[in-house]
Amino acid sequence: MKKITIVYWSNGGNVEVLANSIAEGIKDAGAEITIKHVNEAQVEDVTSADAVAFGSPSMDNNRIEQQQMEPFINQFKLLPNDNKRVLLFGSYGWDGGNFIEEWETKMKDYNFNVIGKIAVNEAPSPEELKRAKELGKKLATF
Ligand SMILES: Cc1cc2nc3c(=O)[nH]c(=O)nc-3n(C[C@H](O)[C@H](O)[C@H](O)COP(=O)(O)O)c2cc1C
Repeated sequence: MKKITIVYWSNGGNVEVLANSIAEGIKDAGAEITIKHVNEAQVEDVTSADAVAFGSPSMDNNRIEQQQMEPFINQFKLLPNDNKRVLLFGSYGWDGGNFIEEWETKMKDYNFNVIGKIAVNEAPSPEELKRAKELGKKLATF
């Protein structure tokens, strides 16, 4: 059984709702899931997983959240990430989703295999939640 971990940061709940839909898709694929807010996550939650989903809002100058999420992600810079499958998800107010494009570039630099991404404006619509669930299923199917 594949082990999939979701690590996200959310304050207002928009990113958390996306995380829960991605989790549904992962469960549909028959995988084992660990889902954590980043303040409870450890590096091992990622290194021991077969694939990972990371979620963040765009915060403070169109970047991923910088107090907890960015330092967590930066820990992987010097680790052998071995092209691990990653799904990126998040929500923005006004940047049009640019933050997730930059995040994707960074994760590729860190030798992750970004298999999908979804960025929504504020709260996700029902269609976006469906897409998030599909991406969760895709992440866990390999
Ligand atoms: C303090 C703060 C800073 C923000 N900075 C940005 C930003 O730089 N660019 C942007 O597009 N949206 C920004 N937003 C909007 C959030 O990305 C958006 O509301 C998101 O849905 C929040 O996710 P959450 O509900 O999971 O916390 C900011 C919101 C807050 C509260």
